[in-house]
Amino acid sequence: MTRFEDMTRRHFLATTGVALGSAPLTLAQANPSVPATKAKLAIDGGEKTVKSVPKLGVRWGDLERARLDAMLRQDTLFYWKGPQTTAFTDTFRRVCPAKYVMPCSSGTAALHIAVAAAGIAPGDEVITSPITDIGTVVGTIYQQGVPVFADLGPTTYNLDPAEVERRVTPKTKAIIAVHLCGNPCDLQALKAIADRHGLILIEDCAQAWGAKYRGEPVGTVGHLACWSLQNSKHITCGDGGVVASNDERFGPLLQRFGDKGFDRVKGGLYESFATNYRMTEPQAAVATAQLERLESIVQRRAGLGERLNRGLADVPGVRPHGVDPRDRCSFWFYFLRMVPERWRCDRAQVVKALAAEGVEAGAGYIPVPLHRNPVFQKHAFFGGRWPIKELGLTTMDYTRHETPEAEAILSTGIRLTLHEAMDDAYIDGAIEAIRKVAGHYAA
Ligand SMILES: Cc1ncc(COP(=O)(O)O)c(C=O)c1O
Repeated sequence: MTRFEDMTRRHFLATTGVALGSAPLTLAQANPSVPATKAKLAIDGGEKTVKSVPKLGVRWGDLERARLDAMLRQDTLFYWKGPQTTAFTDTFRRVCPAKYVMPCSSGTAALHIAVAAAGIAPGDEVITSPITDIGTVVGTIYQQGVPVFADLGPTTYNLDPAEVERRVTPKTKAIIAVHLCGNPCDLQALKAIADRHGLILIEDCAQAWGAKYRGEPVGTVGHLACWSLQNSKHITCGDGGVVASNDERFGPLLQRFGDKGFDRVKGGLYESFATNYRMTEPQAAVATAQLERLESIVQRRAGLGERLNRGLADVPGVRPHGVDPRDRCSFWFYFLRMVPERWRCDRAQVVKALAAEGVEAGAGYIPVPLHRNPVFQKHAFFGGRWPIKELGLTTMDYTRHETPEAEAILSTGIRLTLHEAMDDAYIDGAIEAIRKVAGHYAA
């Protein structure tokens, strides 16, 4: 646990609107003993707290149409020097001011390009988070590297630097820091570990569009950084991704590792081996327009997430999402934790009760930590086999790999949908509903 996590609850109470009144809260939020907590639960036939859930609004329109129209007047839809891909690359530098930027076909592709450029070789270990999309590690496995899962902070849900350091071996080559839900990792601590052990730090910003670490955009501390433009992300072109770097060792390699190993600047013969992860002009046209929308989307989400954190700071049995107050979390979703011993019912009942109150909530996130999936448990990555294990290049045994905090997070976490179309009234209603449900079931 980081020092920050240790002080999270105290900090929320000491520095947020709960104590200082920086944002107006409803009577029930300000005083948990008011009747809202005593009201009959909607699940038991009582009145529903939240009467309507705002729908995710229009996500694309005239901005995208204008770019697509311009694209249709072009004589090429190919990425290399394509007007849309060039515009995307230039506009992206406002999000992450990187010298080298390679737009590509997905976040998974971006991460594959990153580990390939980082030179991950057979048997090299890459330390990362067990709670993430499998796309975080697909590239590592394809490069015949070994994902090593380190345990997480209990409320940040991000890599615990002490656990990362504990996992470093002579075979460790890189760390992939996943900014889960848009919550920036403790990058200073992770960079210090990387520097101490000569490791490459890769930031997985797939869920963290617009997030800021100590005032700077995520993606600027690591040697390499990756984003996803998949449909569920803050901004999207259906599927897409981007990988960026300011590092002269890795940056110049990004283009060729996304383009079948071909160096389009120098030409010549194939000196690297890679697959085709190129973005297309239609994707880039939409993605460029989406970048124009990003800041307002993120400002809204960050404000709503902080509002939830203030409102939930003193709810019995609830641990709010652990965001360092110096950072901007872009809240891909909001993730709270139940303290199970303080509840008289299980999580499924809480989620049902919240749904009845009109709150969009779900139990957990991914069902199990990544390495608890059958493909890892059976080490069955390539035709049911794992050549590097058979060759003795790794002794990794995922059946014995333990990340207890990650297990606990997934079994006690409750996911609240959060998006830019939601308003303060909905968030206040959600807070009131959580307080009401906790008032019935928790102590
Ligand atoms: C943290 C994280 N990393 C990587 C990915 C992979 O991105 P994509 O789905 O675009 O391949 C995702 C997508 O959900 C993700 O959430």
